[in-house]
Amino acid sequence: MQQLHPDVERILADEKQIDEITTRLAKTITKDYQNSGRDLVFVVILKGSIFFATDLIRKVPLDCNIEFMKVSSYGAGTTTSGFIQVHVDLKRDVKDADVILVEDIIDSGRTLEKLSHLLANRGAHSVKCCTLLDKPERRQVPLKADYTGMEIPDEFVVGYGLDYNERYRNLPYVGILKRSVYASE
Ligand code: PRP
Repeated sequence: MQQLHPDVERILADEKQIDEITTRLAKTITKDYQNSGRDLVFVVILKGSIFFATDLIRKVPLDCNIEFMKVSSYGAGTTTSGFIQVHVDLKRDVKDADVILVEDIIDSGRTLEKLSHLLANRGAHSVKCCTLLDKPERRQVPLKADYTGMEIPDEFVVGYGLDYNERYRNLPYVGILKRSVYASE
């Protein structure tokens, strides 16, 4: 039994559940891309998805590239020209490649919506979204992930890459942060 961090209310996904999720998603991705004949590029969205991406991608036994992006997205609306600031960009061209964006969580959906358009505009053959967690209640744009680990309620979650003020990313599980931790700030 793992020790619960004192700031965590309860665990939403423990290490075993996370392992089952990454195994399931990796199997589906492998089946979907094994005969594509195109380059497969996983684009890991920093920082939150680092642990999810490393666990997931190691279970996909296909030739692939791993790239990183760090972005901030701003503004409402569904326009493809919405603001997206790229802090870390790809080191390779994705023209004609099959791209899978790897995220820890989808909230409003803006980040993945804008990133999908950006990489499609760069000539990717396909752009799909894979997320560990999804908060459908929070969606502000009509974005649906192609691969979803787990739908969760609209709670503040931390751990396994997810942070609150850069803390808690190294917890081995995903848990709900106690309200008292952020209510006073
Ligand atoms: C989080 C998360 C997604 C995005 C989801 O990143 O990792 O990238 O927000 O939100 P959205 O669906 O409303 O666009 P964050 O900006 O917190 O950065 P981090 O991953 O470095 O913590």
